[in-house]
Amino acid sequence: MSNTATLIIDGKEITLPITTGSEGERALDIARLRDETGLVTLDSGYKNTGATISAITFLDGEQGVLRYRGYPIEQLAERSTFVETSYLLIYGKLPSPAELKTFSHNLTYHSMIHEDMRHFFDGFPSAGHPMAMLASMVGSLSAYYPDSLDPNHDHDMHIARLLSKVRTIAAFGYKRRIGQPIVYPKNSLSYCANFLRMMFSVPAEPYEIDPEVVKALNILLILHADHEQNCSTSTVRLVGSSNASLYASISAGICALWGPLHGGANQAVMGMLREIQASGGNYKQFMADVKDKKNNTRLMGFGHRVYKNYDPRAKILKQMADSLLPRLGVDDPLLDIARNLEEIALRDPYFVERKLYPNVDFYSGLIYKAIKIPEDMFTVMFALGRMPGWIAQWREMMLDPKKVIGRPRQIYTGETARDYVSIEKRG
Ligand code: CMC
Repeated sequence: MSNTATLIIDGKEITLPITTGSEGERALDIARLRDETGLVTLDSGYKNTGATISAITFLDGEQGVLRYRGYPIEQLAERSTFVETSYLLIYGKLPSPAELKTFSHNLTYHSMIHEDMRHFFDGFPSAGHPMAMLASMVGSLSAYYPDSLDPNHDHDMHIARLLSKVRTIAAFGYKRRIGQPIVYPKNSLSYCANFLRMMFSVPAEPYEIDPEVVKALNILLILHADHEQNCSTSTVRLVGSSNASLYASISAGICALWGPLHGGANQAVMGMLREIQASGGNYKQFMADVKDKKNNTRLMGFGHRVYKNYDPRAKILKQMADSLLPRLGVDDPLLDIARNLEEIALRDPYFVERKLYPNVDFYSGLIYKAIKIPEDMFTVMFALGRMPGWIAQWREMMLDPKKVIGRPRQIYTGETARDYVSIEKRG
């Protein structure tokens, strides 16, 4: 296979290098294109643009394969913990027992937020979306850790702080929203158990930790932990490329995740399932609406920019929903609606032709609901899970000696030069 490609532009030949990744993916390296020809490439939505080289996550959308640092997602979901997977993503290898102990210790002892920050929560309207609180609070951490503003600072302590504090912030935000007293973290608990206690403990009744729920939460967070160059991760890289702080970069990523076409889809799926329930299970009408482009309705939790096969994360989550809900004694009619909807969609030529399959958001909400996470916290849960991936991608970029600020080009289609007309002369 050739490692160069020849382009002919205006009769002039230019040879461009082809870069090959470790899984055989090939890319045309167009870095010299503009200098040599005056042309830029145009690729709306970056559908065909490799924005970086990266050694973190491999995704084969045709085959439905997802690996973190080479390890299959199925093995990590079954055998790892969220903390161990976070270390793997960020530092590139599975930790030794001593490394895991130190990393866990740092997460445990950096879980508190500055008491002044606690008062920020009082300033938010109680009906405000928790993603707004999360993004603001994470951005605010820059003000409490000013050394993070120096791009050459020691990253590791900020990484541990962020990974730990984000869970405290998420739980405090929830407590503020429902008007309950906040619950401080407890050092003797594991990452996920600690979060569940901060969410659900009340003075009248301490939260009883169910290992089954802790395990489920670990799996959910692992499945969301990284997904290479998606909308939010690319945002983190783009903001970080200007040497904005880790906290500022991740705060921007949280905002990008919020939208219903990205991480916000898990909340939107529940609304969709409930609508179908309210219609008395009128799947036919719903599918007709989805296929009618004038309607602007999508089957939420279906389709993916990269997966043209069953999303491996959705496969794990579907099995998990099937086994976990009965074990927790949850009988949710929305799960039956989701199963029916999936079956109908996978037989429908509209979905078959476009290779639209369930994605990670289709079943995750049903599991979050079963473990009592409220719906408007679903996207916050996605953000908690995605945290190590964003951090790993930010760190990889910051340590790259060839790092440059992200700055795309455009093709201008507006007015050409014209003279200013004073207001009296304008009709
Ligand atoms: N329901 C109905 N039609 C769809 C859907 C859907 N969920 N997804 C794609 N299509 C159609 C789309 O209308 C288009 O049809 P046509 O060729 O006739 O114009 C075709 O399939 C290709 O769609 P696209 O919008 O060009 O694909 P994309 O790669 O730009 O968008 C997507 C990917 C995820 C934004 C899209 O599939 C979607 O909106 N899905 C629903 C929202 C959702 O579940 N998002 C979560 C994604 S996974 C979590 C994450 O990582 O963010």
